[in-house]
Amino acid sequence: MPLEPPAFALVVAMDQQRGIGRDGDLAWRLPEDLKWFRAVTVGAGGQSVIMGRKTWDSIPDRFRPLPERENWVLTRQPEYAVPSGVRRAASLDQALAHCEGPRFVIGGGSLYAEALQHPSCTRIYLTVVEGSFDCDTFLAEFGPDWQHSAEFGSGEHEGIRYRFEQWDRVVPAADACT
Ligand SMILES: NC(=O)c1ccc[n+]([C@@H]2O[C@H](COP(=O)([O-])OP(=O)(O)OC[C@H]3O[C@@H](n4cnc5c(N)ncnc54)[C@H](OP(=O)(O)O)[C@@H]3O)[C@@H](O)[C@H]2O)c1
Repeated sequence: MPLEPPAFALVVAMDQQRGIGRDGDLAWRLPEDLKWFRAVTVGAGGQSVIMGRKTWDSIPDRFRPLPERENWVLTRQPEYAVPSGVRRAASLDQALAHCEGPRFVIGGGSLYAEALQHPSCTRIYLTVVEGSFDCDTFLAEFGPDWQHSAEFGSGEHEGIRYRFEQWDRVVPAADACT
C-alpha cells in the first residue's frame, strides 16, 4: 500500500466575493490578520510555507523570506532565481515531498485552487473579511466536503470587520492515483 503523504493546510483571507487579491497584492491591510498568519505559520517552529511565484514576488524584499519558516516557492521557470536559503520546487508534490514539519500553502489563487483538489489538503485557516474589495483573484469553492469546525475570534480595523475560522475536510478527497 502506498504511503500517505503528510497532511497540509491552507492559510487564506477572502472577502465576501471570495476575493483574495488585486493587482498582484492584498486588497486590504489588516494588522491582526498578519499577526494571525504569523502565529499559525510559525507555530512551535520548524514549519514550512509553500507559495506560488507571484505571491513570492508580491512580498517586499524586507519581509522575505518569511522568518522562522522554511520558504518554498513554486515556479515552472527552471532559471527563476531565489535567494540562498529559500527552496524552489517545480510542483506542489515536489515541495510536499521535501519540506520539513507542518506545512502551509499560503497562496495565491492558482496554488490554492490546486491545493484544494489535493488529497492531503485537510484543513483551511480562513480569515473571512466582510465587504467587497474589487479583487481580481479569487479563492476556489471548497464545497460540502468541508465543514466549519472552529472559530478563533473576530475584530474590526478601520471599519473592516473580519473573523478567523477553521475548516476541515470531512470527506476524503478521491485519490487520483487509484
Ligand atoms: N488573501 C490571501 O490570503 C492571499 C494570500 C496569498 C496571495 N494572495 C494574492 O493572490 C494573488 C496572486 O495569486 P496568483 O494566482 O495570481 O499567483 P500565485 O498562485 O501566487 O503564483 C502563480 C505562479 O506560481 C507558480 N505555480 C503555481 N502553481 C504551481 C505548480 N503547481 N507548480 C509549479 N509552479 C506553480 C507559477 O509560476 P511561474 O509563472 O514562475 O511558473 C505561477 O505562474 C496576489 O494578488 C496576492 O496578493 C492573497
